[in-house]
Amino acid sequence: VQELFTTELADSIEIRPLKLGIIGTGVVGRAAAVAFAKPNNILSLYDISLEQEQNAAMVLKLALREDYFRNIRFCPDIEEACRDADYLMICVPTPMSLKKEPYDYSIIDQVMDRLSDKVAKNNTTIVVRSTVDPFWLTKKSQEFRQKLWFVPEFLREQTYLTDAINPPHIIIGLPNFQPETIKNAEQLFSQFKCPKYATTLETAALVKLFRNAFLATKISLFNEIGRAASQCGEDAQEVAKLVALDGRIGDYGSKVGKPYGGKCLPKDVDALNKLYDCAITRASQSVNDKLLEVTNHAE
Ligand SMILES: NC(=O)c1ccc[n+]([C@@H]2O[C@H](COP(=O)([O-])OP(=O)(O)OC[C@H]3O[C@@H](n4cnc5c(N)ncnc54)[C@H](O)[C@@H]3O)[C@@H](O)[C@H]2O)c1
Repeated sequence: VQELFTTELADSIEIRPLKLGIIGTGVVGRAAAVAFAKPNNILSLYDISLEQEQNAAMVLKLALREDYFRNIRFCPDIEEACRDADYLMICVPTPMSLKKEPYDYSIIDQVMDRLSDKVAKNNTTIVVRSTVDPFWLTKKSQEFRQKLWFVPEFLREQTYLTDAINPPHIIIGLPNFQPETIKNAEQLFSQFKCPKYATTLETAALVKLFRNAFLATKISLFNEIGRAASQCGEDAQEVAKLVALDGRIGDYGSKVGKPYGGKCLPKDVDALNKLYDCAITRASQSVNDKLLEVTNHAE
C-alpha cells in the first residue's frame, strides 16, 4: 500500500484547536463548517455574496449546538478570513467550461491569486475542496510552494450536512509525505473516526473524477436497458430491477429513463473527456445527451 503512496492515517493523534478559514459558503463550504465546528475551533467564513452568507448563517445556526456556532464568524473580506488561519478551505465554484479546459477556473484562480502572498506570510495551508483536475493541482502546488492540499468532497446534495459529519472515509491529497505533513493531516482530520487515506494530489483528483465517471456510466447503461427492452416489447423497469439485484451492481441509478444531472456528474464526465478522451465516458455522455433531448422534447 505504501508503494502506491497511500497511507492510512492514525486515529490516536491528539486533537488541537484550529483556526480555519472557509472561502465560499455554498453546499461544500457549509458542509466543511459543520464538519469542523467545535467549541475550540475558530472558523472564519467568507462569501462574495452577502445573501449566501446570510443563508449559510441560518443553516449553520439550526444545524449546530450553540457553543459550536459561537465560534463561527462571517468576514467582510477574503483577507480577514485568511488572517492567522492554519488552514484555508477553498469551496468556490469550478463550473463546466465551454472552452477546451476541463473546468472553468476563472473564479478559483482569482481567489488563489489574491491569497498567494498572504498565505506565504502566515504559513497557512490551502485545502482545496472544489473539484479540480490533476494538472491544475500540479501547477498550483508549485506556485504555492507545496502548501496546497486537495481533499475531494463526495457529498450527496440532499444529505450534505450529515454526509460531511459522518463520511465513510476521507481521501487526503498531499503534496509530499514528509513526517510533518502527515502529522498535520492526522491532526486536521483527527476528529473523524472513519478511515483516512493520504495520497498524492493527483491521485485524489483522479479518484474524484473516476467515481463520478463510474456513477454516470452506470446510469447511462441502465438507461440503455430502456432501448433494449422496447425492441422486444419488455418492461424496462423490471429488467433494470432484476439486473440491480446482483450485489456487485446494486440499484444506484437503476431507474430507467432518468438522465444523470446535478452539479457534479455532467461536468466531471465532460472534464474527463477533455482530459483523457475516455471512450467509455464519451459513450455515456452521448447516451445521456440523447435521453435529455427526448425528455426535454416531451416536457
Ligand atoms: N455540491 C456538491 O454536492 C459538491 C460535491 C463535491 C464537490 N463539489 C464542488 O465544490 C465546489 C463548490 O460547489 P458548491 O456546490 O458548494 O457550490 P455553491 O454554488 O453551492 O457554492 C459556491 C459558493 O462560492 C461563492 N463564491 C463564488 N465566487 C466567490 C469568490 N470569488 N469568493 C468567495 N466566494 C465565492 C458563491 O457565492 C457560493 O456561495 C465546486 O467545485 C463543486 O464542483 C460540490
